[in-house]
Amino acid sequence: MDLGIRGRKAIVNGGSAGMGRSTVLALAREGVEVFVSARGEERLVAACREIAAETGSHVTPICADHSTPEGRAAILAACPAPDILVGTCAPPPMTPDYRAITEKQWREAIDISLLSPIAFMREVVDGMAQRGWGRVVNIATVAAKYPGEIRVLSGATRAALANYTGAVGKVVAKHNVMINNVLPGMHHSAFVADQFGERARAKGTTYEQEVAEFSKEWRIAAERFGDCDDVGAFVAMFCSEFANYMTGQNLVIDGGATNSTF
Ligand SMILES: NC(=O)c1ccc[n+]([C@@H]2O[C@H](COP(=O)([O-])OP(=O)(O)OC[C@H]3O[C@@H](n4cnc5c(N)ncnc54)[C@H](OP(=O)(O)O)[C@@H]3O)[C@@H](O)[C@H]2O)c1
Repeated sequence: MDLGIRGRKAIVNGGSAGMGRSTVLALAREGVEVFVSARGEERLVAACREIAAETGSHVTPICADHSTPEGRAAILAACPAPDILVGTCAPPPMTPDYRAITEKQWREAIDISLLSPIAFMREVVDGMAQRGWGRVVNIATVAAKYPGEIRVLSGATRAALANYTGAVGKVVAKHNVMINNVLPGMHHSAFVADQFGERARAKGTTYEQEVAEFSKEWRIAAERFGDCDDVGAFVAMFCSEFANYMTGQNLVIDGGATNSTF
């Protein structure tokens, strides 16, 4: 399917790994010119080179921390007038005991998961509105909608982000600027490999066994974790021409782990 965004310019913050990388790939396959930020240079440059070689699109690495003003300035200097903004970050730490969460952890989670995407939207959304076209997608978490103690740093900050994007989305929809979020469940990424690999080592099991046990315990209907590309494809759809009448939505992609009729 042609998503109708060939030649558009996109910033993908947090795009060297996981779902961010899958998004870069999905957009580059559509002929979008992508500007990709991450903090670690080696993985970032390698990801951009691989995706450019596979797709033939321009994919530019920007080594920057998008949660800092300097990082945001560097990213926007490389791409001052994006048509598309996609944002994510490394998952905030899991918190098995909500009482043990420190103020420092809260402030870090708020900075990276809430204030950074807000600051970015403030920088780019007016320009999108003036040009009469724009798409913003935040890769957040299913825990924003379905709270859980272990994901409270990620869920609470993203629930606030979902509220903010809904409010701003209403202001700019008349200019064909659409702002949506995707809410992933459990997906095989470097973060998940680390977390579940560590668990397996501690218990003398394997990564696959831990994933199977978690899938059962959390009643994931698909009985497995998703791949990152399962998310990237839907992000690209939200960035597409087809998303011209959809805003303020939060799409859960979790293999059927959560259930509500609407
Ligand atoms: N994986 C899951 O199962 C899962 C489940 C629910 C929700 N999520 C959410 O989905 C999002 C993506 O998760 P993931 O598993 O795909 O993560 P990941 O594999 O760890 O990738 C995160 C990406 O963001 C970059 N990044 C992190 N902090 C950054 C910063 N301050 N500035 C620029 N780039 C930054 C990382 O590169 P550098 O580290 O080099 O900067 C990397 O490219 C997260 O927000 C997470 O909360 C994930």
